[in-house]
Amino acid sequence: MWLFNSSVGRKLVMSVSGVGLVLFLVFHLAMNAVAVFSASAYNAICAQLGANWYAVLLSLGLAALFVVHILYALYISHVNWRACGGRQRYEFSARPKGVSWASQNMLVLGAIVVLFLLVHLSHFWRHMMFAELVGSHGAFDPANGAAYIDYYFKGHFFTTLLYLLWYGALWQHLTHGIWSAMQTLGLNNGHWLRRWQRISMVGASVICGAFALITIIFFVRGAGW
Ligand code: HEM
Repeated sequence: MWLFNSSVGRKLVMSVSGVGLVLFLVFHLAMNAVAVFSASAYNAICAQLGANWYAVLLSLGLAALFVVHILYALYISHVNWRACGGRQRYEFSARPKGVSWASQNMLVLGAIVVLFLLVHLSHFWRHMMFAELVGSHGAFDPANGAAYIDYYFKGHFFTTLLYLLWYGALWQHLTHGIWSAMQTLGLNNGHWLRRWQRISMVGASVICGAFALITIIFFVRGAGW
């Protein structure tokens, strides 16, 4: 199939799934920002997105996006590696001028993001949507997302640090990923390539910076400062 066999098709799947994941991130960020201002408003949203059929369907769609993005990343890296005779691409030279560190390490950065994501899902999703689906119960009611956020971040230095490292890897991944997706989708003529690179930098910084700020706010609230 073209989307699997041709390099353009594979990059297209990576780009479209990547853009979908970034849109999820923006939605997730907006939802989490509500928790900073009002626990009850946040929990009302959580109740809407609990184990309702439409929320479960959206979660399955999101999981499919993640799986496609990860499998294609592995496959593309494998094809590139084989095309280079099994050698590292830049084994004999320093990083070429104008090539960012992130662009050369997308697979490693993606793996770090996914690893932390699994920890994150075990913190929240397992005790919320999954708990509701299987009828189990954690420390709080599954719809009380605000209580879980407090529970994990309030005054917990190590967890907060772990999440900040996660956002750092995500930031690196996005600074290259966003403009690279736009390039693949053909949205770059001469001027726009540099613009998309700047937009990627600003977008990644706003998204990851805001996640970091929310996490730090919850940490500080419980640190007794
Ligand atoms: C301030 C930081 C964050 C907070 C407080 C937070 C909070 C939460 C909560 C409460 C849930 C459970 C929602 C539910 O099951 O109803 C959740 C799920 C999830 N989070 Fe986060 N999150 C944060 C950052 C992130 C980041 C940076 C990512 C991605 C890189 C992410 C990816 C996910 C995913 C994929 C789910 C599962 C969504 C689903 O059920 O469809 N989260 N998060």
